Amino acid sequence: MSTRTPWWIRIPALFFIIFGLMEYFIDSGDKPAIIEYPITQFFMLMVLLILIAIELILSSIENVMFQTLSPEAKERYLAAKNKKREWTWINNVYARLTKTRAIEKEGEIIMDHNYDGIRELDNVLPPWWVYMFYATIIFAIVYLIRFHVAGDYDQKLEYEQEVAAAKIAIEEYKKTAKDLVDVNTVEFLADASDLSAGEKIFTTNCVACHMADGGGGIGPNLTDEYWILGGGIKNVFNTISEGGRDGKGMIAWKQSLKPVEMAQVASYILTMGGTTPANPKAPEGEIWVDPDAPESEKTEEEATPAEQVTDSTDVAMN
Ligand code: HEC
Repeated sequence: MSTRTPWWIRIPALFFIIFGLMEYFIDSGDKPAIIEYPITQFFMLMVLLILIAIELILSSIENVMFQTLSPEAKERYLAAKNKKREWTWINNVYARLTKTRAIEKEGEIIMDHNYDGIRELDNVLPPWWVYMFYATIIFAIVYLIRFHVAGDYDQKLEYEQEVAAAKIAIEEYKKTAKDLVDVNTVEFLADASDLSAGEKIFTTNCVACHMADGGGGIGPNLTDEYWILGGGIKNVFNTISEGGRDGKGMIAWKQSLKPVEMAQVASYILTMGGTTPANPKAPEGEIWVDPDAPESEKTEEEATPAEQVTDSTDVAMN
């Protein structure tokens, strides 16, 4: 019994081993299982209670057994128990791994040269070092056979696999991190959930000037194909984010809306295109044609986006 570790090491050690095993075996995605599945917190609490209970039971058994001992046996038991823990096992391992010679035995291995009082011991190579050296030899053999004889994967393949895995991870990440969109990456969000979220944002923030059906009031008609600041998801997102021209009344919404919200409301606005509002405001701006659309759909008068913006400004100022 004298070598037993004290309870205050045993309980935490077992607890964290079980905790580690649980985290290892329960697949909980990015978050630790203890957060992802609250039931595991209860499980760990139970583990802790059981560990404590076991400790209590063991110590009471020990106590009961102790009471049954004869007085001399009690004394011997206590003496054994109170004996300082000796780290014999660790000391032995340490001695075997270093093979150091005790200082009083150095005379056996001292070499007979002497340079100005500096003398040399003929120590053996420390076994821990030798074992590591053997390990590198084994590693080298396995490596040689695996990559130079058997021709397992090479660096190029490894690189390509990592890039492919990273691309998948980026796609996954983009799905969960919609807030990363900006004017360069924004895309039309066709999901019903995004569109209904966009509608809600529109109803809360935009109907005062654009009307619930997008027909327009203070702000322009959003349902026709004429756009002052350019149509298409990128331009509309940019307008919402940066606002309209100075003094027109359309503020920059990037202060109050998150990027994903602007993408949602922009997508919602695009779904209103072609609908017939109750009181449509007269068209303002230019017919907008997507410059990314296939060539064949373009006609002569259609300008490049840059010219379009200047043109539309002129139109609106006239
Ligand atoms: C205070 C009134 C007002 C509110 C509120 C408002 N807008 Fe506007 N909006 C305008 C005006 C005015 C313009 C024209 C800007 C210009 O001419 O530069 C405009 C232009 C736009 C345009 C560009 C239209 C075009 O023809 O290019 C879009 C898109 C737009 N608003 C979307 C929104 C969205 C989305 C919201 C709500 C988040 C919103 N607006 C809220 C007044 C408003």
